[in-house]
Amino acid sequence: MPETYHIPVLLEEVIQQLNIKPDGLYVDCTFGGGGHSMGILKSLNANGKLIAFDQDEAARHNVPDDARVLFVPHNFRHLKRFLQLHNIKEVDGVLADLGVSSHQFNEANRGFSTRFEAALDMRMDQRQERTAADVLNTFSETQLHKLFEQYGEVTNAKTLARTIVAARNTAPLQTIEGFKTAVHDVVKGNPAKYFAQVFQALRIEVNDELGALKELLEQLPQVLKSGGRAAIITFHSLEDRLVKQFFKKGSFEEVDENPFEMTTRSNPFKAITKKPIEPSGDEIKRNPRSRSAKLRVAEKI
Ligand SMILES: C[S@@+](CC[C@H](N)C(=O)[O-])C[C@H]1O[C@@H](n2cnc3c(N)ncnc32)[C@H](O)[C@@H]1O
Repeated sequence: MPETYHIPVLLEEVIQQLNIKPDGLYVDCTFGGGGHSMGILKSLNANGKLIAFDQDEAARHNVPDDARVLFVPHNFRHLKRFLQLHNIKEVDGVLADLGVSSHQFNEANRGFSTRFEAALDMRMDQRQERTAADVLNTFSETQLHKLFEQYGEVTNAKTLARTIVAARNTAPLQTIEGFKTAVHDVVKGNPAKYFAQVFQALRIEVNDELGALKELLEQLPQVLKSGGRAAIITFHSLEDRLVKQFFKKGSFEEVDENPFEMTTRSNPFKAITKKPIEPSGDEIKRNPRSRSAKLRVAEKI
């Protein structure tokens, strides 16, 4: 693994919490630089297997030459379909370490970082058509407003949306610098922090990050063996809320309250972490990007 691709977050905690069976079958939904995958492989014997998903083709270069590993260059929302295709009924554990890798963030031309001048891209999967520029140039003012408010917690989301629509009526927004200049007058507070929130919101939308997470969670009760564990690392509150809610109820569906029947949906999960595990002060010092990480773990009953 190249030294700088990505530093795995909460590595020891993840490996410990997955409670790895040496001859088990595990899925790393977010292979990236392969840091967590290497940890899983170290705990597996020659009969163990690891299926590693990453929708970014760049991650493939980090895949070790190891017969126990199968790399899947697709979105983890297709997990169940992929397992079915390979006649795999259930697995012993699933890990997802959400968001972008440091590599994606540090590659100027991927368009994830406000530090560089590049096209407004932000696609993790470059086979996908829709880019950040498409979102900025085609979403309605209301859609943009909601997007910046919900995914970025941008304080003046409405004003920002209005400014974007006015700017794109003159010329389409194509580049990071062009975008920053167009909205310069409505930036509030520290510009670096402001643009980080704005870019986070765009990235979540471009990659449908919450949609993919929801679909993954909904598949877990079917793909995990009894006693198998799911470990999910999130980096912002919207993701963490989805994971927390799903592990608590085992479903996103509301149960109709019928006062005449004692129908309660049984939760297929037992919570292993009552509260999320967070990085230690030491880890945050070593790897500042770990600071907002939250690890939640559940076991299939
Ligand atoms: C935070 S990094 C994971 C780093 C990895 N755990 C490591 O130790 O190097 C997230 C990775 O997951 C990928 N990814 C994010 N969402 C995905 C999805 N829905 N499907 C497949 N891969 C995804 C990204 O392309 C990125 O490479």
